[in-house]
Amino acid sequence: MNQARDFYRFSITIPPITDEVDMRTYSNNAQLQSALDSFRSKGQSIAFVPTMGNLHEGHLNLVRKAASLCDVVVVSIFVNPLQFGPNEDLDAYPRTLAADKEKLFSEGVQVLYTPEVSDIYPQGMAQQTQVSVPDLSDTLCGSSRPGHFDGVTTVVAKLFNIVRPDTAVFGEKDFQQLSIVRKMVRDLCMPVKIVGVATTRDEDGLAKSSRNGYLSPEQRHIAPIIHQTLNSCREAIACGFDNFLQLESHARMQLLQAGLEPDYFAIRDASTLRAVTPETEEIAILAAARLGPTRLIDNVRLTLNPVSDWGMLAGSH
Ligand code: PAF
Repeated sequence: MNQARDFYRFSITIPPITDEVDMRTYSNNAQLQSALDSFRSKGQSIAFVPTMGNLHEGHLNLVRKAASLCDVVVVSIFVNPLQFGPNEDLDAYPRTLAADKEKLFSEGVQVLYTPEVSDIYPQGMAQQTQVSVPDLSDTLCGSSRPGHFDGVTTVVAKLFNIVRPDTAVFGEKDFQQLSIVRKMVRDLCMPVKIVGVATTRDEDGLAKSSRNGYLSPEQRHIAPIIHQTLNSCREAIACGFDNFLQLESHARMQLLQAGLEPDYFAIRDASTLRAVTPETEEIAILAAARLGPTRLIDNVRLTLNPVSDWGMLAGSH
């Protein structure tokens, strides 16, 4: 009897799951760097996924991609105040560290980096040297969120210098951000490979985003119209409709009629994010719209066939 009870007691005594066992969490830069040096000294490659937390399936797909590319995955969670405008949702931005840790642990992430604002901006944000990518940062989201992309590139450059990853993984949902980070890395000769991952969507097409959590049930019902409108526009272009101004204004009207407040709906060259030209090889169709106080963004892309689509789009704008 006693033996049976002892056996039972023994069999349920499993070691507690702690960060120390499998996923190490650091907020201190020096400790993080010494842990990463020890991986590097064993010849292990490092993939990095920078995030602002409130992790969803979209982030976890970035983590899975990172794990498929390198030996060690490092994820950062840092809600970067430098990329939020004065009237934006910095304070309301969801902070869900305990749940995020569990998700990352389940994905087998080895290192989590959770710096404080004072670790990233020890002299304060006003004194911070900034990295600014010209041109690409001024259009689309950059027009309605002045300074936003300078905040993104500054923090990403700092994170790259702290983590020194071989590869960094970003979502294509933030297509403009991905383009800007690629240009920053190219222009500043940063030794990191940037990998983009396709947007993860709910079944009705809504792109996964931490900000979807702000939507009321009614707004959540309306939100997929952004993706539907982007898709209709892509189909029209693929079918040869080449009056882009008309397509853009028709799409904006559709968003308005659905109860969204479009910020922009734009058909652009995917590599310059400027107007489509005869040299354009890939088109990006990008939209940002407000639904109540929530600003949602999404995009789809269309690769042009140089032979058959060329003439069709040569005169378009
Ligand atoms: O895409 C994000 O979550 C953020 O812009 C990033 C890249 C983590 C920088 O703060």
